[in-house]
Amino acid sequence: MTTVLVAGATGSLGSLIVRNLLDRGADVRALVRQSSVDKLVAHPNLTPCVGDLADGADALRHHVDGVEVVVSAVQGGPEVIIDGQRELLRAAERAGVHRMIPSDFSINLFGYGYGVNILSDLRRVFADSFATSTVARTSVAVGAFPEYFLGAIHEVLDPAAGTFSVWGDGTRPIDITTIPDTAAFTAAIALDPRTAGREVHVVGERLSMLELRNEVEAASGRRWDLVRRGTVRDLRAEVVRRQFAASSLVEYVALQYQVAMFDGTASLRDVRNADYPDVVPTSVAAYLAGAGAAHFTVPETARRQGEWPTAV
Ligand SMILES: NC(=O)c1ccc[n+]([C@@H]2O[C@H](COP(=O)([O-])OP(=O)(O)OC[C@H]3O[C@@H](n4cnc5c(N)ncnc54)[C@H](OP(=O)(O)O)[C@@H]3O)[C@@H](O)[C@H]2O)c1
Repeated sequence: MTTVLVAGATGSLGSLIVRNLLDRGADVRALVRQSSVDKLVAHPNLTPCVGDLADGADALRHHVDGVEVVVSAVQGGPEVIIDGQRELLRAAERAGVHRMIPSDFSINLFGYGYGVNILSDLRRVFADSFATSTVARTSVAVGAFPEYFLGAIHEVLDPAAGTFSVWGDGTRPIDITTIPDTAAFTAAIALDPRTAGREVHVVGERLSMLELRNEVEAASGRRWDLVRRGTVRDLRAEVVRRQFAASSLVEYVALQYQVAMFDGTASLRDVRNADYPDVVPTSVAAYLAGAGAAHFTVPETARRQGEWPTAV
């Protein structure tokens, strides 16, 4: 039985990774902060490990003793994504862990460079930590979670105005994978030793913004007026304008993702779904007919200013 430690085990994605790993017969250790222990669901093969990445490598070390794979699904600013994950990596090195999946789970952030996206930059800095590490890095890229991409932060759907907004011509395919499907793929990848030292791309569905609008109209049974907001060049200019004007990164970071999605640099390459045939991802149509129907009516609660987004 493979032993996997999951950091961020109480989060939206991490909790589902834990469930999928248990379903696949893994022995799972859940790194969980004291304040969040109650969020864990009991299971005979699940061991709660109370700790915080901020505790440092020495304190984290005993949690990773005997662990083969570490999966991180934490979220936060540089103190978590860079400093905290580095402490976990140092602990994993000392314990002889084979592989670590960092908390990337994004568009193909290694398809573009520094300065395009502030949250990608944190993950890129952490990825460099593996250059001198004995632990092999396995990065998982999935494209956009529709749970966020169709939420208020991305400014695509506006249910009150009945509009669907597009930057660029709307014809370039974009990569979309739901949170449950990302968790299912990640559990399979975590238990697949072939992924050591690789960036693994998997996807739910690829479709253009114009096709996505058709899916939204079909699922909602209503018309969504197409708003063409400008070219991708205009989008880049809007990001820069907001960076100077914004009081919080929440006001521009979603558009930073869209720059890389719509100029194609973040497109997934060498998609490996075929390596995991038992993971059958949800189509966008099925997502919109189920949980995704909430996008048509329920506005998301605005985030507190200055808070690092839990996701984009
Ligand atoms: N591709 C996309 O469109 C997309 C969208 C959203 C998210 N994501 C990515 O998915 C990943 C997971 O995001 P999420 O939305 O699932 O995050 P989330 O729900 O906010 O969960 C974050 C988890 O990290 C834990 N955590 C935070 N700081 C910690 C620390 N110092 N020590 C230990 N644990 C800590 C939290 O614990 P507590 O329960 O104690 O707070 C929680 O379990 C992130 O890499 C995110 O960028 C991608």
